[in-house]
Amino acid sequence: MIRVRRIAHADFDTPDLERQVDYYTEILGLTLVAKEKDAAYLANTNDHHSVVLRRASEARCVRLAFQTAPDADLAAFKKQVESHGIKVESKKDPEPTIPEMLTFEDTKGTIMEVFREREPVAQRFGEKGIVPLKLGHVAFNVVDVKKASDFYCDVLGFRVSDWMADFFVFLRCSPDHHTINLVDSKRSKMHHIAFELRNWGHLQTACDFLATKGYPLIWGPGRHGIGHNLFAYHRNPDGQIVELFAELDRINDEDLGYFEPRPWHKDRPQKPKVWAKDPSASNIWGIMPPADFLD
Ligand SMILES: [Fe+2]
Repeated sequence: MIRVRRIAHADFDTPDLERQVDYYTEILGLTLVAKEKDAAYLANTNDHHSVVLRRASEARCVRLAFQTAPDADLAAFKKQVESHGIKVESKKDPEPTIPEMLTFEDTKGTIMEVFREREPVAQRFGEKGIVPLKLGHVAFNVVDVKKASDFYCDVLGFRVSDWMADFFVFLRCSPDHHTINLVDSKRSKMHHIAFELRNWGHLQTACDFLATKGYPLIWGPGRHGIGHNLFAYHRNPDGQIVELFAELDRINDEDLGYFEPRPWHKDRPQKPKVWAKDPSASNIWGIMPPADFLD
């Protein structure tokens, strides 16, 4: 099986392109690298773009892009996807720096973009705003969580890191505990987008910065049970939930199969498992999210 190895970027429609560009550059601290009349490309480091914004009537997450290993056989990957009865399109020069890409839809209609190579960019970290290390993960509400989870595992090569009971799954495509998480819901939509910060100090600085700029937290700071990441959530101007996190669990060696040991783990070693639906799975520190958080 050919597996995707990392998330490269996420594309959003927005009804107010200028306002969202302002948020992503002045608050989050990404760099605006290219601007078209109805689109903006925002970067932090190795990728030409980590977030793409496009002018549209309604705010939503439209696409996610994943990168394979540089020596992956894209033709074989195309067959792998098609073997599940999924229609795949091949595109040449679809986006800046990406010469070749396959696109297809996941079970909820989000467009998957898979590419192997991109032209290298010498993009430096930004110098204003929060400036995350990277785009970490994207979480979705989905109407059939088992079907969606099977898609990411069987088609894209993700692995299951943890389940909460049978309704919330955390999937990895790299050493990071999760790059996609999916919660069973009445309707499908993006739940949140998450950016990795350096450490607790960076998270504190970010929370203080958000407060001075008029972005109150809606949950956190805390430490999740599942994934064990420090977290703080706020909403961007389009109303989308943005998570800032640090210290996410990592499986450095898939053959060993456990997360790197940490003092806050209850299991020794901490391995992928099914967690009970318990408050400590959400926040070890005990404070629960607002009632509408998972809607
Ligand atoms: Fe998250």
